[in-house]
Amino acid sequence: MKYFIVTYGCQMNVHDSEKIAAILESLDYQPAERREDADIIVFNTCAIREGAEDRVLGNIGNLKKMKKKNPDLIIAVCGCMTQKEQTANYLMNTFPFIDIVIGTFNLPKLGEYIKAVKTGRQLQLYPEGDIDESLPYKRTSGDNAWVNIMQGCNNFCTYCIVPYVRGREKSRKEESILSEIKDILAQGKYKKITLLGQNVNSYGGDLEPKVTFAQLLNDICAIDGDFTVSFMTSHPKDLTDDVIAAVAKQDKIEKYIHLPAQSGNDRILKLMNRKYTRQHYLEIIKKIRASIPNCRITSDFIVGFPTETEEEFNDTLSLVKEVRFDSIFAFMYSPRTGTVASNMEGQIPEKIKRQRVNKLLALEKLVQKEDNKR
Ligand code: SAH
Ligand code: SF4
Ligand code: F3S
Repeated sequence: MKYFIVTYGCQMNVHDSEKIAAILESLDYQPAERREDADIIVFNTCAIREGAEDRVLGNIGNLKKMKKKNPDLIIAVCGCMTQKEQTANYLMNTFPFIDIVIGTFNLPKLGEYIKAVKTGRQLQLYPEGDIDESLPYKRTSGDNAWVNIMQGCNNFCTYCIVPYVRGREKSRKEESILSEIKDILAQGKYKKITLLGQNVNSYGGDLEPKVTFAQLLNDICAIDGDFTVSFMTSHPKDLTDDVIAAVAKQDKIEKYIHLPAQSGNDRILKLMNRKYTRQHYLEIIKKIRASIPNCRITSDFIVGFPTETEEEFNDTLSLVKEVRFDSIFAFMYSPRTGTVASNMEGQIPEKIKRQRVNKLLALEKLVQKEDNKR
């Protein structure tokens, strides 16, 4: 029997799909080259923006025909979309040919569900459960190995759905991370370790005794072997000097920091609940550039956040001009049901958001062109 996994969203989800693959292979499924050849298709979904959800819905809709041709085909949907009760219900009602809807917290139960579904039931499970770190992974990213160092997020940026679908921040024990990395390196085929967390800089604050992210980085670098380490994502409010110092000092750490700014305007940053100012952000950039020569710096921006005026958007443009990022991701604000910003007055029309995102991307292109020339 064969499986096919369709993954949407961030590296977190890519890594979760490696867990799903391991679960399926433990049930004697083999990878299929094409979804047409599969006996089970798993959609690992993302809820970060409406566009991400629409892609998922469109693709699930297309499976109806396949299911008609092959009634034994099992269709499972999991990931961040299905962790929302409302969306889970919607999926079950709109696409009755889906066999399993399972939230991020219940992923370990996927195997159990597949067995149950073979007796002919449609199953749905979303809210409770705990994330089981002991599940194995089937690593699929070449010589790069993803390593989760923490789950969830406590920041509640007002636009963001992640805290609702991934739960509260929970750091993994340092020993367990170090021993996973040692095991990975002992296999001899991995050269890169990428540490994953929504806000890696706040790693370890919830552990007893506390461990800092800088400490974790230094301890990882002390492991023998020929490998590099990188990490994502850093939050400007928590990126401390000791982390910058570790990146500067440790040869094993890649000279690369992804530091989402989201906006260059203080009023918007405040409304976003980002807990830093433009000035503070610029100071961090200054520090990075002073202590890590040639460090690559990239960022994320959201344009058209509720009530954002043209002048305030211009502050984002001027920040991009000032910092000269190596690259940026620019997103049009997408209201997510259940978040604070989705209920704010002064939502910005699509047309204006589109104009702003195009303007921002054009500026970034120009900056890159100039820098490449130099
Ligand atoms: N934890 C990371 C990244 C989270 S999601 C961080 O804090 O930076 C990745 C990016 O998606 C965010 O940086 C943000 O720019 C964008 N994003 C999140 N929610 C969004 C929304 N509702 N609309 C548009 N973009 C959004
Ligand atoms: Fe979302 Fe903010 Fe958490 Fe990032 S830090 S995952 S943007 S709430
Ligand atoms: Fe990632 Fe999307 Fe979930 S960005 S954490 S897969 S909502």
